[in-house]
Amino acid sequence: MKETPFEAFHRGLVHVHADLRGRLSAILSRIEASETTGTDRAIASFCSELENHHHAEAAFIFPAFRAAGRLRSFDVAFLDARDAEHVDIHRLCLEMRDASRAHRRDVLSTKAWRASLLRLGGELQYLSLPHFAIEESTLTAAHVAEMMTARELAAMHRDMGRHWNDR
Ligand SMILES: [Fe+2]
Ligand SMILES: [Fe+2]
Repeated sequence: MKETPFEAFHRGLVHVHADLRGRLSAILSRIEASETTGTDRAIASFCSELENHHHAEAAFIFPAFRAAGRLRSFDVAFLDARDAEHVDIHRLCLEMRDASRAHRRDVLSTKAWRASLLRLGGELQYLSLPHFAIEESTLTAAHVAEMMTARELAAMHRDMGRHWNDR
């Protein structure tokens, strides 16, 4: 049976989260192994993928759910809580990115680099893993179909394509 646009939406969400989870866990393994070379680049690229994903949610997907006008009070609170988490997760990611560069500038010993990055990476997992999980279990195909029509979902995707840099 052909996938509905709502199922495709949820599959996309799960796919991006799985990729981010995998990349963060690979980064933590590199830090564990004190692999300083290339880790700053891996972290910067992870942060930029995470930021893109959060931009899609915060600037296009969540506003489209709200604009469709069918949210229950639970949905309103759910989206507001996730928006707030995006801010904290982003701040932590940038902190980790800056700390990862400190070693290359000879500001930190490998031992201090490892300790600070393990702490920040652990905090980032602590915040982002439950965030991804609750989005996946709440923004299911069936629930998104309650919040918006297929036409509104398609309009949201078009809007994202056309106005990605404007918001
Ligand atoms: Fe999110
Ligand atoms: Fe997400």
